[in-house]
Amino acid sequence: MKTISISRRKFAQLLSAGAAAALVRPALSLGKPPEHSAASTGVVRLSANENPYGPSPKALKAMTDSFGLACRYPDEHNNVLIERLAKLNNVGRDQILLGDGSGEILKLCAETFTGSQNGKLVAANPTFEAILNNASANGAEVVKVPLTADFAHDLPKMLAAAKGGLIYVCNPNNPTASITPKDQLRDFIAKSPRDTMILVDEAYFHYADSPDYESMIPLVKDHPNLIVSRTFSKIYGMAGLRCGYCVAQKETIERMRLHQMWDSVNIMALAAAIANLDDPDQVPNGQRLTSEAKAITIDELDKMGYKTVPSQANFIMFDCKRPVVPLIQAMKQRTVEVGRLFPALPNYMRVTIGKKSEMESFLNAFKQVMA
Ligand SMILES: Cc1ncc(COP(=O)(O)O)c(C=O)c1O
Repeated sequence: MKTISISRRKFAQLLSAGAAAALVRPALSLGKPPEHSAASTGVVRLSANENPYGPSPKALKAMTDSFGLACRYPDEHNNVLIERLAKLNNVGRDQILLGDGSGEILKLCAETFTGSQNGKLVAANPTFEAILNNASANGAEVVKVPLTADFAHDLPKMLAAAKGGLIYVCNPNNPTASITPKDQLRDFIAKSPRDTMILVDEAYFHYADSPDYESMIPLVKDHPNLIVSRTFSKIYGMAGLRCGYCVAQKETIERMRLHQMWDSVNIMALAAAIANLDDPDQVPNGQRLTSEAKAITIDELDKMGYKTVPSQANFIMFDCKRPVVPLIQAMKQRTVEVGRLFPALPNYMRVTIGKKSEMESFLNAFKQVMA
């Protein structure tokens, strides 16, 4: 592959000359992109809630600097990231569990807290489905509770449906980008019985700016049944690298760890995550660029007569007023990929907020498709 012919020194020179983005981002540019990739086809990919700006240049450099450590197990990097995350979240190191993406954390929660021994999974409908599949595969009953009319979790109904087991609260929620207000969530956590575990998935935490939104991490110290998950896939632009984590009390982390593969987070992802946290611009830049492109998109859709669910994430969902499946296909024919069907909302389209130019392509294609 072409990469091999570039020496590490040459690579470092190119990086310091400011060519990091061109050379390393996206990673596929180091070699020939696979035939199906967005890079090779000019596809506008607004289907997976990724961050099109990628990780911090510091993270890209940290990864190239770590090439020589590829032969080592990642223990030390693991410890450094845990230390950083513990400080960031004001908790002990033994209250952090890293995962191969937050997807691994969700899977560990399903395996540890649901199933024939532990009980059912209660989740909203619609929500991010991964943990529903994990719980079913673990032999658990899965109970879906519809979102309220304003797209919040129906927490009293979810609590009533659970007896032991696990309640999954995705906040902001995927696919609706809506939030469940902090007061309702706090009240629900306070009322939940000790033997019912609660997982609050805060994958989109950094994009939420409503005064009604708050992280539940500070509540972990008082609630042994609370787990809060986060990811480096969204604002930190590391979806392809795979790194996430959760915060919970020590005993909960220990129970989950028993189900985890050793060394599940790779050394490049750890190096990138640590460096991302060291870049003070990564989060505010991502927030600003996303909110600008989001405002333009929502405004244009509004002018066309399409109402968007109030979005607190890096994606939007709006009512197309007709079945979305043929529209998704027609958009794809115009090389714009949007989110999949969520059966509970068959007329709603989920669209990731990409760069402004990508949102222009989306709006043009959408106008053509709806004409
Ligand atoms: C709500 C939510 N949680 C978790 C994930 C999994 O993310 P990752 O495994 O990349 O951290 C996603 C991915 O899109 C998501 O939308």
